[in-house]
Amino acid sequence: MSQPSKPNRREMLELAISRGLLVAGSASILSQQQLLADWQAAEAQSNKPTSAEVLGPFYRKGAPDQPNLRVPGDPGFPLKVVGRVLNTKGQLVEGARVELWHADHGGLYDTKGYKYRASLAPDAKGIYSVDTVMPGHYADRPAQHIHYLISAPGHKTLITQAYFATDPFFEGNPDKNWNKRGIAANKELVLPVKLFEGGSKPSDPARAEITFDIVLEKA
Ligand SMILES: [Fe+2]
Repeated sequence: MSQPSKPNRREMLELAISRGLLVAGSASILSQQQLLADWQAAEAQSNKPTSAEVLGPFYRKGAPDQPNLRVPGDPGFPLKVVGRVLNTKGQLVEGARVELWHADHGGLYDTKGYKYRASLAPDAKGIYSVDTVMPGHYADRPAQHIHYLISAPGHKTLITQAYFATDPFFEGNPDKNWNKRGIAANKELVLPVKLFEGGSKPSDPARAEITFDIVLEKA
């Protein structure tokens, strides 16, 4: 997916108007310029690099490229994780590798094998995806989380984590509690969770889903 070429000033104004940021004819030139500057700043902010977090003690090299981490009978609520790897211009990053790992439903990591661990190459549309279960809580890190290590040619390797806005740890108010006990480096890492009822087939269970788009900096 390639990003359209940078819009000129007129196109940006039209876009700003279409987004309700400006009302044509009603604002002075000066205030239009200020509004345009604010809008440009907001656009740039949306492509800032994803915040880094610590690697943690449970990373293991060599995880397989496996999108199905959950097998029938696994305890825990089914979870689908999807996302893309982008650069700061919002373009897909070529050749990215997304490693992710998390604790099982009981809060334990597989330290000998590769359960709930994957090293993924995004597909032709730039999307990575795994089917897994909601991570459990454990004493040292009392919020559910998924660890990430993302690498790509020409970009800085990023280590980060994803959290869940539905986690009881955030007490129903992640906007206020995202940094409770210093848990998350940035509010953006606490992700909204979509819930799906699922269908009658085992392949279509009730599940949660998060989308985590990652923005890498150039090396
Ligand atoms: Fe962890």
